[in-house]
Amino acid sequence: MKIAVLPGDGIGPEIVDEALAVLRALDLRFEFERAPVGGAAYEAAGHPLPASTLALAKAADAVLFGAVGDWKYDRLERALRPEQAILGLRKAMGLFANFRPAICYPQLTHASSLKPELVAGLDILIIRELTGDIYFGQPRGRRAAPDGHFPGAEEAFDTMRYSRPEIERIAHVAFQAARKRGNKLTSVDKSNVLETFQFWKDVVSEVHAEYPDVMLDHLYVDNAAMQLVKAPKQFDVIVTGNMFGDILSDEAAMLTGSIGMLPSASLNANNQGLYEPSHGSAPDIAGKGVANPLATILSAAMMLRYSLNQAEAATRIERAVLAVLEAGLRTADIARASDSKVGTRAMGAAVVAALAAQH
Ligand code: IPM
Ligand code: MG
Repeated sequence: MKIAVLPGDGIGPEIVDEALAVLRALDLRFEFERAPVGGAAYEAAGHPLPASTLALAKAADAVLFGAVGDWKYDRLERALRPEQAILGLRKAMGLFANFRPAICYPQLTHASSLKPELVAGLDILIIRELTGDIYFGQPRGRRAAPDGHFPGAEEAFDTMRYSRPEIERIAHVAFQAARKRGNKLTSVDKSNVLETFQFWKDVVSEVHAEYPDVMLDHLYVDNAAMQLVKAPKQFDVIVTGNMFGDILSDEAAMLTGSIGMLPSASLNANNQGLYEPSHGSAPDIAGKGVANPLATILSAAMMLRYSLNQAEAATRIERAVLAVLEAGLRTADIARASDSKVGTRAMGAAVVAALAAQH
């Protein structure tokens, strides 16, 4: 099993190291190869996604990704900014299906910004389309406005678009995922205003005919954002476009108390995948050894399950994470004032120890 390891920027390298330690503690053989990505790659090679890094990622069975980005690169031209690395990998590898679970662990209910009774037992899966929509639509740019309120004025524009096959394939992924869980799918759109999302709604409804056993409902994105904080447990699987999914998955993450707990998987049609924590590079705490490595460790578990066909090993990691939470270990992001806190390394080492204790 060949894994491309792309630690990236900020806390990326620290948390990826802990995930690697956990993978090495399994009785499996991996070939890990590291490459720079994001700001680290810009420093080393002048580009956030060097050709050699992309080639390594494409040739691997899976990519274990840390995080990219730092404020110090905000003034670079867009094509050289760290974020372009992740967008470039998604596009070049065809990673159209993004899985973002939002699970509220019973031990961490207190960390949520919502009342415990609203989030206890929460288990949502957000499936975000990841290679289309306004993020990739052409044309985009700046120009003199051809019409509108201020013709001739300088304006900027992007293009929102989805083709039928793009909507169909993500809808199939979502219906199939719903079948493996609570059989309930919510498609989020903005069909009351946008042509693109009326089409989205129509196509998702058509695909539904093949999954009559799955309950489908449709919500406008503004209402979905509201429902997520009003009564989040009404949701099972949510499927939506790239931009709405970006926003709603951050919102859903916060319901669980800490984005530091949440893994993600981005898959292509061959189940090749990129696995990364849902959180970012957190440059403010980089190098301090306080970041929570659990989201990355849980991403490694998703990698085992979705790309490497090692469901049993994935379950072992997930059980080990539950065991360390149960034992009371807390990094700063999930600690109460009265808890004693552990750092990144100690948390990773505890998961490794919990794995060993399973034998
Ligand atoms: C995410 C991030 C990225 C996105 C950025 C870093 C380009 O916010 O993965 O949610 O917008 O998709
Ligand atoms: Mg985001």
